[in-house]
Amino acid sequence: MAADLVLDVRGVSLTLGGNHILHDLDLQVVDRKRPGTTTGQIAALLGPSGVGKTRLLRIIAGLDKPDAGSVIGHDGKPLTAGEVGVVFQHYPLLRHRTVRGNLETAGHMNGLSGKEARDKAAELLERFGLAARGNLYPVQLSGGQRQRAAIAQQLMKHKTVLLLDEPFSGLDPAALNEVIRLLVEVAHMHELNTLLIITHDIRAALVASDTAFLLGRRLDAAGKPTGPAKVQRMVDLVALGLAWQSGAEHTPEFVQLERDIKDDFRAL
Ligand SMILES: Nc1ncnc2c1ncn2[C@@H]1O[C@H](COP(=O)(O)OP(=O)(O)OP(=O)(O)O)[C@@H](O)[C@H]1O
Ligand SMILES: [Mg+2]
Repeated sequence: MAADLVLDVRGVSLTLGGNHILHDLDLQVVDRKRPGTTTGQIAALLGPSGVGKTRLLRIIAGLDKPDAGSVIGHDGKPLTAGEVGVVFQHYPLLRHRTVRGNLETAGHMNGLSGKEARDKAAELLERFGLAARGNLYPVQLSGGQRQRAAIAQQLMKHKTVLLLDEPFSGLDPAALNEVIRLLVEVAHMHELNTLLIITHDIRAALVASDTAFLLGRRLDAAGKPTGPAKVQRMVDLVALGLAWQSGAEHTPEFVQLERDIKDDFRAL
C-alpha cells in the first residue's frame, strides 16, 4: 500500500440474506499534510438511505466480516478493533449511569485506572461543554448534548480511526456547528487521526471534511436503483481549495459543489 494512506478499503463485497449489498468496493483515505501543522483527516460518506453505509462502517470497524476484501490501516496491516472507535447512529450511552459515569466506564473498559479515567472524563466534559451536565443521566440531556457525550465517550481512549454514523442528525444549527467544530478539533489532534462520518447532511459533510465519498447504486433503464453499491464519486475538497478554511461554505464554488452532489443523488 502507498505510504500515505491512513485507511485502505479494498475490494469489499457483502451479501446479506441473499441481498448483494456491496460489491468490490474501494475507499482510500490519504494522510493529509500541511507544513507546520498537525493535520488529521475527515472523510464524509454520503449516500441514499439503505445503500449500505452502516454496513460498510461495521466492516471497517471490524464488527462484521465482508465476503471479500480487506481493511488496512496506516501501518499497512489490517485495522484492529483497538485502533477504531465507533459512534453509532443511536448513541450507546448507558441509561443508568450519569454522563460522567458513562465516560469513566468507557475508560475502565479501555484499561485506564480509576484516576486516569476520572481525569480524562473531566477533561473531555470540559472540552465538550458538558462540565455542568456530568451528573445528569442521558435521558436528561438534549439530543445535541447526548451526541457530544457519545463522541466524548469514544475519546476516552485514543483511537486513530473514529467512525461516526449520523452524528449530525437531530441537531439545531448552533449544536450542529458546535459538533462540527469539535470533530475538526479532534481530527487535528494527531497527524494520523482519521474520522469517517456518515451523514445525510451534505452541507455539514462538505463543511467538516477534506474528502467526500458518494456511495450509490446504478439505475436501470426504468430508473430503479439496481445492483450492489460502490463508491460512485470521490470529492477532494483540498484540491478544490474548499478544505480547512472557515467561511468556505459561503463561496460560489462550495454552493455549486453542494448542488452537484445533490444532483448526483438523483442518479443513484
Ligand atoms: N441482516 C440483513 N439481511 C438482509 N439485508 C440486510 C440486512 N441488514 C441490512 N440489510 C440491507 O442492507 C442494506 C444496507 O443497509 P444499511 O443499514 O447499511 O443502509 P444505510 O446506507 O446505512 O441506510 P440509512 O442511511 O437509512 O441508515 C439495506 O437495504 C438493508 O435492507
Ligand atoms: Mg445507516
